[in-house]
Amino acid sequence: MKVVILGGTSAIATETAKLYAAKKAEIVLVGRNEDRLVVIANDLVVRGAVLVKTLVADLGNCGDKDAGLNHARELIGGVDLILLAYGTLGNQPEAEQDEKVAAEILAVNFTSAAQWCLAAANLLESQGHGNLVVIGSVAGDRGRRANFVYGAAKAGLETLVEGISHRFANKGPRAGLVKPGPTITPMTEGMERGGLLWATPEQIAKVVERCGRKGGIHYAPWFWRYIMLIIRNLPSAIFNRMDI
Ligand SMILES: NC(=O)c1ccc[n+]([C@@H]2O[C@H](COP(=O)([O-])OP(=O)(O)OC[C@H]3O[C@@H](n4cnc5c(N)ncnc54)[C@H](OP(=O)(O)O)[C@@H]3O)[C@@H](O)[C@H]2O)c1
Repeated sequence: MKVVILGGTSAIATETAKLYAAKKAEIVLVGRNEDRLVVIANDLVVRGAVLVKTLVADLGNCGDKDAGLNHARELIGGVDLILLAYGTLGNQPEAEQDEKVAAEILAVNFTSAAQWCLAAANLLESQGHGNLVVIGSVAGDRGRRANFVYGAAKAGLETLVEGISHRFANKGPRAGLVKPGPTITPMTEGMERGGLLWATPEQIAKVVERCGRKGGIHYAPWFWRYIMLIIRNLPSAIFNRMDI
């Protein structure tokens, strides 16, 4: 199995990569922290990966994405799965006051991610096989005052991946999206973490791996499907009084 991971230093991506390493995958990790990429790559080789290459790039702000993906593919001689895992929560109060902060959250989580997905879709369609897996968020299901700029970007990304999945229907490739709930990773450092609703990156990784095999939209863990069903359907009069 040949895997390209955009956002290779993400905690969720790292745990997912360990699952692929155990299956003797060949992996390209793309990210902007070279030292961290090398540490993760070495660990994946110890865990069974046949080959791990690293590419350093600011994924939110880089040039020709078709060329970038082709380069990654050449490093491991093909690609069966492209995982888009990078993202940033950003600072919601600052984003409401400073358009540059809002633009950065939207550029990382939506604009650039959408462009990578479109490039990935073209690559997979041209070769006639392979899966695109994207990490969205439950935050995209309903705008909340705590994080609605981030949530809006993730909602847009979900619609885009849904469209790519529709485009792929009856063709070889597949596209899917994983929507994690709150997860204990560097992204949520500083928050009050713990309790039944918080997941570990290992739990989310299993869902990402499943999405890579089956495509479709997957909440992670599964119970978020039902929580978000309720939250999406709450009347505004009730929802607006909730501090969530
Ligand atoms: N943790 C949660 O509660 C949660 C919930 C729902 C969805 N998600 C989503 O899950 C995905 C993975 O996040 P995580 O939880 O694993 O958090 P994480 O460990 O903090 O990973 C985020 C990753 O995104 C990378 N990144 C951000 N901006 C980048 C850029 N411009 N170029 C390249 N890489 C960039 C970071 O790289 P650096 O190390 O270089 O900063 C980091 O590796 C994200 O899409 C996130 O939105 C997370």
